Amino acid sequence: MASLSLCSAHLSSTPSRSSLPTSSLLSPPLSLFQSPIIRRNSSIFFTVTPRQIPQSFPTCTSLVKCCVKEPLKVMISGAPASGKGTQCELIVQKFGLVHISTGDLLRAEVSSGTEIGKKAKEFMNSGSLVPDEIVIAMVAARLSREDAKKNGWLLDGFPRTFAQAQSLDKLNVKPDIFLLLDVPDEILIERCVGRRLDPVTGKIYHIKSYPPESDEVKARLVMRPDDTEEKVKARLQIYKQNSEAIISAYSDVMIKIDANRAREMVFEETQTLLSQINLNRMIKTGKTKLLLLFLVFMLAILINKQVLADKASPVQDNWRGIPTRLNNIPHSRDIRSYFYEDVLQATVRSIKDGNTRLRVDINIPELNPEMDVYRIGTLMELVRTLALSFADDGKRVKVCVQGSMGEGALAGMPLQLAGTRKILEYMDWGDDETLGTFVKLGAIGGKEVDEEDDIFILVAPQNAVGNCIIDDLQAMTTAAGKRPVVLINPRLKDLPASSGIMQTMGREKRLEYALTFDNCYVFRLLYYAGTQYPIMGALRMSYPYRYELYKRVTEENGKEKYVLISTYSERPTPDQINDAFSGKSREESKKPSGIWGFLGSGFF
Ligand code: AP5
Repeated sequence: MASLSLCSAHLSSTPSRSSLPTSSLLSPPLSLFQSPIIRRNSSIFFTVTPRQIPQSFPTCTSLVKCCVKEPLKVMISGAPASGKGTQCELIVQKFGLVHISTGDLLRAEVSSGTEIGKKAKEFMNSGSLVPDEIVIAMVAARLSREDAKKNGWLLDGFPRTFAQAQSLDKLNVKPDIFLLLDVPDEILIERCVGRRLDPVTGKIYHIKSYPPESDEVKARLVMRPDDTEEKVKARLQIYKQNSEAIISAYSDVMIKIDANRAREMVFEETQTLLSQINLNRMIKTGKTKLLLLFLVFMLAILINKQVLADKASPVQDNWRGIPTRLNNIPHSRDIRSYFYEDVLQATVRSIKDGNTRLRVDINIPELNPEMDVYRIGTLMELVRTLALSFADDGKRVKVCVQGSMGEGALAGMPLQLAGTRKILEYMDWGDDETLGTFVKLGAIGGKEVDEEDDIFILVAPQNAVGNCIIDDLQAMTTAAGKRPVVLINPRLKDLPASSGIMQTMGREKRLEYALTFDNCYVFRLLYYAGTQYPIMGALRMSYPYRYELYKRVTEENGKEKYVLISTYSERPTPDQINDAFSGKSREESKKPSGIWGFLGSGFF
């Protein structure tokens, strides 16, 4: 009875998005993270994480679908081999959308020898784009069919040019979400060259990373004629030429996804985003009873699913997202490596995007000088990983540690940096020549910047009691000009001496300067107010992706895991974190619950 009334519920459709203004098509790409969808997410009071949506419970998704009258409209975009087709297979299975792939439609025309196919073949085989008029007509016809209107659609590989985006706008076709799959170029080529297709099932394989299940399937696999290295490079170049115009056209609904992860992980994120759109619609339409019923229903499934997952999931599964056992000191080599690699990837991406003032803020017990288990060696290992990676890339890296500051009674350096310089000198830098050529050690200040230096890594620059590092830092960044300066765990808050001088003089300017560094990596463990045990959750941001809020869950067998409960385009405030943990929407309660009171006092 309940499910019958749910399914027959007539919900009003969501208000349509304002039509795409020409100015927005012409303007440069907006911030990737200003999507209204993202902002809306922060207000939903129950965020469904992918792991929470049971694979084995098909009626769950169909329940959402039948409660939400308006079908989903999704665009998926990304460079060749970014995994669009792979994700589409999974999305279609889960959400029942009509998959419209211009690549597949064109390939079907080619193999049937139609007029369109004859025209398209040459363009496709050379890796160029098929003329707009052909593709636009094809897509318009497919979108107008009843199944796409009724079940919703998933547009894969269209629009690919500014003209194609405009044509959709004229037809008043607008997506609910524009998913942009992001994968580094070097990975894309390898993916394309190794791709094989099953002509019988249409399934996409990869000879190394995703081989077929049987010899029978293997024997019939085919390679696409445009999957040679040379053609992939040409396709990639064409993609890059057009992508900006497309991205700016859909910036209001765009979400960039790190697709350089296992397919399942990418799908987890995709699935969450699509489910959230459906849930947001339910909330918007004010069907609170339906929603409540749905949530209770979901909760029951989740508990059930959780128990099953606990029994079935391998140990590595706990590592999906972020490492566990962060309270175990010392951190294992695996944990440390995870963070070093995570920070490195974010830093590389940020520098590649042209950012020059970067800030890494990583706060795990071993890197938190306020905890007894703080280990300077971990900080040094992180710095070495970054420096050697850039050095391997042919860059000349200067690793800088501030020297003694101040005079008289206030002379000295911050305790957490004591001995740092010596440790760096004695560390193993791979071979004898690296230290002194590609990696040099220095202090912080304008005079430390040499012409040959390509990049500067500053180890935990910080104000000390009564002494301020910011003038030296400022002189250094001025001298560095457009060369990247990366601050690792800076602490630029004022630490006043008894005179209180530092608290007042020039404070505003100092803070203003500190804000000129952009976060490229944030990892912070979250605790209950006033204590550092147990860990409640974690906040992670790896440039250019969203802030991810995880909740630590203790499992039946004594193990733990981190469950993604929400994501944010901007760093969430303690209030937003409180709300996400207590399952409230912002509208429901503007009062902080106090769980994170500790975090509110200068931690954010
Ligand atoms: P199309 O077929 O759309 O090609 P594409 O955009 O270049 O994309 P691909 O199909 O190559 O890659 P994909 O992102 O789907 O990746 P996949 O999931 O297969 O278009 C082909 C041609 O048609 C164009 O060049 C053009 O000529 C024409 N055309 C199409 N649309 C057009 C338009 N709108 N206008 C004009 N012309 C148009 O994955 C690739 C490989 O990676 C697979 O082996 C897979 O197993 C593997 N893989 C996937 N995900 C992962 C992962 N997460 N980890 C590891 N491996 C993965």
